[in-house]
This record gives sequence, structure tokens and C-alpha cells, in this order.
Amino acid sequence: MAGAATGAVATYEAAPNIALIKYWGVRDEALGLPYNSSIAVTLGGMRTRTTVRFDPALPNDRLKLNGRWAVGGPLDSARGFLARVREMAGERAFAEVRSENNFPTASGLASSASGFAALAGAAALAAGLELSDTELSRLARLGSGSACRSIFGGFVEWRAGRRPDGRDCYARPLFPPQHWPELIDLVAVVANAPTKAVRSSVAMQGSVRSSPAYADWQSVHPGRVTAVRRAIRARDPERLFPLLMEECDDFRRVCESTVPPLDYLTDTSRAILSAVRALNSERGRPVVGYTHDAGAHVHLFLEERELPALRRSLRAVPGIARFWKLRPGPGGRYVRSPVR
Ligand code: PMV
Repeated sequence: MAGAATGAVATYEAAPNIALIKYWGVRDEALGLPYNSSIAVTLGGMRTRTTVRFDPALPNDRLKLNGRWAVGGPLDSARGFLARVREMAGERAFAEVRSENNFPTASGLASSASGFAALAGAAALAAGLELSDTELSRLARLGSGSACRSIFGGFVEWRAGRRPDGRDCYARPLFPPQHWPELIDLVAVVANAPTKAVRSSVAMQGSVRSSPAYADWQSVHPGRVTAVRRAIRARDPERLFPLLMEECDDFRRVCESTVPPLDYLTDTSRAILSAVRALNSERGRPVVGYTHDAGAHVHLFLEERELPALRRSLRAVPGIARFWKLRPGPGGRYVRSPVR
């Protein structure tokens, strides 16, 4: 945990991450313990900054998100999480939370990962808990599974663990952000992306219960996690990108065969996947790998020298609002300037 004094106020910032191997389904809902380990890249340039202040005078927890007082779902989730922090810390006061993203929240790129990682860091310290990054990762997991990976930068693995109490279930850094300097994540932001009808945490349990493809997907995960880790270590696009796309296709198959079906993509998203497949077959080797999470935007991994070819391939795809060129970035950290 990077140098900050304990006290009733603390500020932490964290970035979103995109999963290369997906987390989708928990064996324990209260503790957020996943069926499989996952691997993600923490994204540079995008940050959520969150300040938490415990105040005995407050009648309840309150949350200001990008300058507006939150109500409903986001406020309820924050309150549920703060209650767990209070219990851990023996804190009695309610909290005021102020949180800001440096990227458009409505873009659909705002994963809950950066939000709950930042809330975990700020709330823990403000409540007087001085946690190691591993402990912080375990805590963030209780807010949103993917948040446990955003405590760390670069390439990150979340070990599913085996223990029923979840003590061995947390993320750890695999390789630092600079490990593969040529690798970029070009995010194709899809126009008119639908907002999520069902929260991921609810949707994934629907897949566990009803998708006939779920068990098969689980059975390939241990081998695939090892293969992805090795491909990243070797900085080998020809090994990594096919694995990335197979994992994404399996994830989509599971979503589509869930009852009722989960369909996150638009025609534009599907056209992007087809354009990437066409480019790879034209080149005779995988020069781009795609993935997406529970949303319509598509993350395209490639080495930077392939960017002109990819952009040419995507020129004919209608409905792409914009591109974001991202790289692996740093993990969470405490900062001195509070969100006002
Ligand atoms: O952490 P949640 O509840 O937002 O779920 C994340 C689910 C995926 O983004 C689809 C996969 C993942 O591993 O991040």
C-alpha cells in the first residue's frame, strides 16, 4: 500500500481492466468466489478517482458520481459495500463518497471494476484499515468480481482459489505494464450501444444455471489460463490472439445459450468481429485479436505496426462512433487530491 496516512478521509484511484480470460459465474454469491481463474489487462489513461469520508453526523451513506448525487442501483451497491467495510473496521459512522471518472461514464466503457477498486481503496483507508494490495484485492472482489484485478497494473491474474472462505481468492500481477510495449488495445466504441438490462452479477448466474455450454467452457479454462499466461510471457501475438478470440467466442456462446438469452452485441459489433477474422485470414496469421465484455464495444488487441491495416479493414464497418487507443497501465494508488 503506497504511502498515505490513515484517517477519516482517503482518496484512491484505479483503472478499468478488460478480461482476456473471462470471469463469468460464482460458486459463492456472498463471497464472490468465481468458478475459474481469469486474466486481464489493466488499461492506461482511464481512471476512477474516489474520495471517502466517514462522518458521524451523516444520517446515511451518500454517493456523488461525476458531480451528481446518486440514487437507486449505484447508491444501493455502494451502501452494501460500505456496510462490509464498516463491519471489518468496527466503524460506526456513515460515509460520503465522491467519485469521478476521467472517461465518459455513459460510454459503456465504465466497468464496475475501476469503481469498486477505487471505492475499496478509499473506504478501507478512511475507515482506518491499512491493507496490503492482496487484502485490498480481496475486499474489492466483494464489490464487483472484476474489481479485484484493477488493484494491480499491467497483466493481472485473478486466482479462483479453492478455499470456501475465499482467503486464496485474489488477483496478483503477472507482468508489468511495460512488459509488451508494442501491444495496444484499440477500443472500437460502437454507436447506440444498448445499456445493460441485467447486472453482470445477476446475468452470469443465469448462465451458470441454464447455459448448456457452461460446463464445457469451464473444462477448457485451466489449460487456457496457462496458455494465455505463457503467450503473454513470450509476447507472442500468434499464440495469444487465437486464444483471446476462442475465449471471447465461448463467452458469447454461453451468453447466447443462457435462458433467457443474453445478447450484448449490435450489428456493428458483429461486423467488427467479421472484419478482424477476414483480416487475419487475408494475412495468413492472426495479427489482431478481439474480445468484448458484457457490452457492445469491441477491444482489439494488436501490435502497433498493424494499426494502419486494421483501420483500413474497419473503414467499411458502419456504426463505429470512435476509437480509443489504450495500453496496459498502472494499478490502483492512493492520491492526495480529493474529489470535491
Ligand atoms: O465484475 P463484474 O460483475 O462487472 O463482471 C465482469 C464480467 C466480464 O466483464 C464480462 C468478464 C470479466 O472477467 O471482467
